[in-house]
Formats: sequence, C-alpha cells, structure tokens
Amino acid sequence: MSQAPPYASITWSGDSLGEMRVLDQTELPLNLVMRPLGSVQEVHEAIVALRVRGAPAIGIAAAYGVVVALQDSIRNRAATAVASQVARNACDYLATSRPTAVNLFWALDRMRRKIDANPSVASAVELGNLLLREARLIHDEDRSMCHAIGDYGASLFDEGFGVLTHCNTGGLATSEYGTALAAIITAHAVGKKIHVFADETRPLLQGARLTMWELQQYGVPSTLICDSMAAQVMREGKIQAVIVGADRITARGDTANKIGTYGVAVAARHHNIPFYVAAPTSTFDLSIIGGDSIPIEQRKPEEITQGLGRRTAPPDCMVYNPAFDVTPAELITAIVTERGIIHPVDEDRVRAMVEKRTA
Ligand code: MRU
Repeated sequence: MSQAPPYASITWSGDSLGEMRVLDQTELPLNLVMRPLGSVQEVHEAIVALRVRGAPAIGIAAAYGVVVALQDSIRNRAATAVASQVARNACDYLATSRPTAVNLFWALDRMRRKIDANPSVASAVELGNLLLREARLIHDEDRSMCHAIGDYGASLFDEGFGVLTHCNTGGLATSEYGTALAAIITAHAVGKKIHVFADETRPLLQGARLTMWELQQYGVPSTLICDSMAAQVMREGKIQAVIVGADRITARGDTANKIGTYGVAVAARHHNIPFYVAAPTSTFDLSIIGGDSIPIEQRKPEEITQGLGRRTAPPDCMVYNPAFDVTPAELITAIVTERGIIHPVDEDRVRAMVEKRTA
C-alpha cells in the first residue's frame, strides 16, 4: 500500500541526542498529542500507562528508550564501560514495564546483543549511534512487516465481507498500518467493499477509542459494537471473518491477545466463521509450546471500577483484571505473518514459517 499513514505512533528526530516522541494514546480520540519522552523513566511510564501500546509499538518504543537512557552518558562523555552498563541497565528496566507482549523482550534482546557485540566502542557517542541505528532498524523492519501482513491479510477477505476485529492493531499499535488492521486497510485501499465491526474492548476501550479513530482516518466503513454484542452480530449473519492481532504466539500457535479475544474465537467457531490472527514473526515465542505458559499481565482494579472517569462499581469490591487471554491454536483458522500465511495452525507449520530464512 502506498498511501502515507496520516499519523505516527512513535518518532525519533535527530541523532542519538535527538528527541523521542509518542502519540499519547490515552488522549485519543479527543486530542492528538505527540508527547516527548526525555528519560528512560518517562519511556517506562509511557509503556505502563498505555500512552504507547500494542505489541510491536512497545518493542519499538523500548528500543528507542535505551538510546534515551544513554543521553546523559553521551552529554557527560562517560567512559564507554560506564555507558555500556547504563544501556544494559536500561534494557533490564524497560523489560519490567509489561510482561505479555514478547515484542518488548525481542527488541530489548536485539539492543542488548548490539551492546555486547561492541565492547570496544570508542566513546559513549559511538555506542549511542550504534544503538540508535539498531532502534531505527527495528522501526523500519516493522514498517515492512506491516505492509507484507496487509497484503497477505487482504487476500482473506472477499467482496462484501463483514469483518470483526477486537482491540487495536493499527498504526497506533505498530510503526504504521498495523497487523490485523493493515489487512483491513489494504483490502479497503484496493477497492474491496468490506464493512468492519469493531468491539469496543473493555475495560480500556482500545476498539472504541483507537480502532474506530484509525478506521475513520482511512475512511473504512465501520460500526462500533460492545464486546457483549459480538456473538449476536455473528448470529445475524453480519460477519464473514474475524481478524485480530497478537501479543505472543507460542510454538504450537496458541495466541495471547487482548482480553476478550478468546470469547470471540469461541463464538466464531460456533458460527462457522474463520478466525484469523495477524502478527509479525517478532510476536512468536518458540521457547513456549503451550499457551498456559504465557505470562498474563494483571492490571489495576480501577481500570474496571472507574475506568471511564467515574466510579461504576461499589468501593472495595473484588476485581479480576487480566489484560490478555489465550486463544488455543485449534480455534485459529490461520495466522498471517509477513512471510506468508500459516494454515492450518500446528507446531510444524509455525516453526517452518518463523524459522524460514529471509533472503
Ligand atoms: O494492552 P494493549 O492495548 O497493549 O493490548 C494490545 C493488543 O492486545 C493488540 O491486539 C496486540 O498487541 C496486537 S497490536 C498489533
């Protein structure tokens, strides 16, 4: 797809002493605020508070966050051993921000490998340049992945399809276009007449606040529904395909994604509707076989009891707030990656696709 995206989730301007900014997603859809992040603590906070969110975007933000962490060492002309340690500490610290999306750890491992592979850099500036180059590479690679996923994913939709999606998987959650949303945006861009149903995605409303906003930016015909309406909308025959993103996919294809995804997959199976997952290979964790081993983030009770700005439950009630659930591979029709489509979903095919060498 060639149309330039109308917004960027993360930007870096200048050299290693330059400025990192994120589009503050907690402000959407009301305000479009690019927030500068001037310290590694601010980057960590932005990830925890979901100012920057979505598996690939978290990885990209963390990679730039390591460069932000190094800026004082560069300004103070710190010894290289000291600067390297600062960068390593930043990797460890940023890895504590959110536990489920494996892209965070994947990106930080790349940054760590860069540090370890260059023990004899001449200065903190040189280390900063190397790490900024790696962060930019991670960012650029994600752009290419989004385009490829969009092209493969769009082929799954026929003319007139109703397509249901959950949470937000667009340019806000990635470098640009997204994963599941890239498939939708690409299908729309090539003229396929599809209609999207977006689950609002309680408790934090990524579907209502972010997906609907992104679909409007691209002019994709779309309807917002409450999460509890998805099964009924399927029953009414309005949905011909479901497509969602992922935060971590295991070797056998079990997929962690935003809470509520599993229920959508169960309903889709009941109604004989194909259920697709779209994710780059950086979202796969082949060290885990079964989805039960994926760490699931537990978030604050207030997101449920007063997440909409006013109290919606009595004080002191017990709350359970897992941010993600796991959809077992047997409910997934196919997984769309930047290297092709995994179908049917099983361990051999997942490994073959993820371990496939790229030219
Ligand atoms: O808690 P969030 O908003 O970061 O959760 C995001 C999701 O679950 C997305 O579906 C997933 O990260 C894929 S983004 C391309």
